[in-house]
Amino acid sequence: MPDAFETMWSDLAPVGRSASSGGYFRQPWLSAERELAAWFEEQCGARGLSVSRDAVGNVVAWWGSPGPGAVLTGSHLDSVLDGGAYDGPLGVVSALAAVDALRERGFTPSRPLGVSVFVEEEGSRFGLACLGSRLATGAVSWDTARSLKDRSGVSLEDGLSSAGLSGSPDLALLEGVGTFVELHVEQGRDLVDRSAAVGVASGIWPHGRYRYEFTGSADHAGTTRMEDRADPMLTYAMTALAANKQARLAGERATFGRLEVTPNSTNSVPSRVTAWLDARASSARALEDLVGAIERQASERSSRDGTSLVVTPESVSGSVEFSPGLAARLAGPRGWPVIPTAAGHDAGILSAAGIPTAMLFVRNPTGVSHSPLETASMDDCLAGVSALADVLAELAGDPA
Ligand code: GLV
Ligand code: MN
Ligand code: MN
Repeated sequence: MPDAFETMWSDLAPVGRSASSGGYFRQPWLSAERELAAWFEEQCGARGLSVSRDAVGNVVAWWGSPGPGAVLTGSHLDSVLDGGAYDGPLGVVSALAAVDALRERGFTPSRPLGVSVFVEEEGSRFGLACLGSRLATGAVSWDTARSLKDRSGVSLEDGLSSAGLSGSPDLALLEGVGTFVELHVEQGRDLVDRSAAVGVASGIWPHGRYRYEFTGSADHAGTTRMEDRADPMLTYAMTALAANKQARLAGERATFGRLEVTPNSTNSVPSRVTAWLDARASSARALEDLVGAIERQASERSSRDGTSLVVTPESVSGSVEFSPGLAARLAGPRGWPVIPTAAGHDAGILSAAGIPTAMLFVRNPTGVSHSPLETASMDDCLAGVSALADVLAELAGDPA
């Protein structure tokens, strides 16, 4: 008898959890995330699903043999640094529980039904969001990806090799997939405001990550006159304020959430500040305007400070509109709201690859995400499982 949702959820609770914050550190291809990957394969084995893997660690477990018209559901097991329990794992555990629910209902799929886990969805280690699904769909090539570096300078190729993975490109994993459905915890309060436990996504805002490298001159914090400095921290600080202001004025989002200071010495003027901008907007044009305005202001300030600035886009994701017909078909008869999101997902990558895709969101009572405080009630999680089982039965069952 496979484990029930609650048991699976409590199996995962301690893996990669920080004793001090209660948040999760499940970076891809490192020990906690590998433990989760092994756990997933065990759960698939216990359900008699046949497991296919690619050379970067993406996994699909099949109920039935893979083939044309297959229906895939799943999510990711990696987390941001100090992330929540639900972002990713909720979709994977719900997919396994939905398979159990369908079997309990006596359902047999007429099309192959797969449960998937994509690696490095957050881009927390190698900087490129949805790296696993981009590689699996060919949206990024292995030649481009192999030399990406993590914070310690380890290349993707070496990181994979340390995890026993060869990393060579392989597009066969998703062959035949005709529909993808990702269940995810909501990362906002839309469903709370609508008093709905479950919703369907309409689309994803375009978004990107941009590395800002501010360079100045290291000097003594005491003896260097204020007017003689070329301090990149000042250019960065003004840029962070400008980004916030521009995003507020435009009704969009801009965040500097990561910073590296060289040499990071209390009594030195720094020589370099590297900061990462995460920017999101309601349209591609609005994103371009926002990112352009921030970069312009940063450059102007840089000339005044006597510093220099280089901006490099590290991860850019276009606007996604999920199949409106599919969203309406799933949501309409069930009265589920259809809502947009400003968070990125593997579902966006599969959709951009031409696979009709839908997302189900499960209510998040506070809306907080990418934080140890991210949560969802057990009742809502179970409502999500039942909703996912209904959707899979409709998509993988006999054609009406
Ligand atoms: C992923 O969760 C993202 O939106 O950054
Ligand atoms: Mn996330
Ligand atoms: Mn996610």
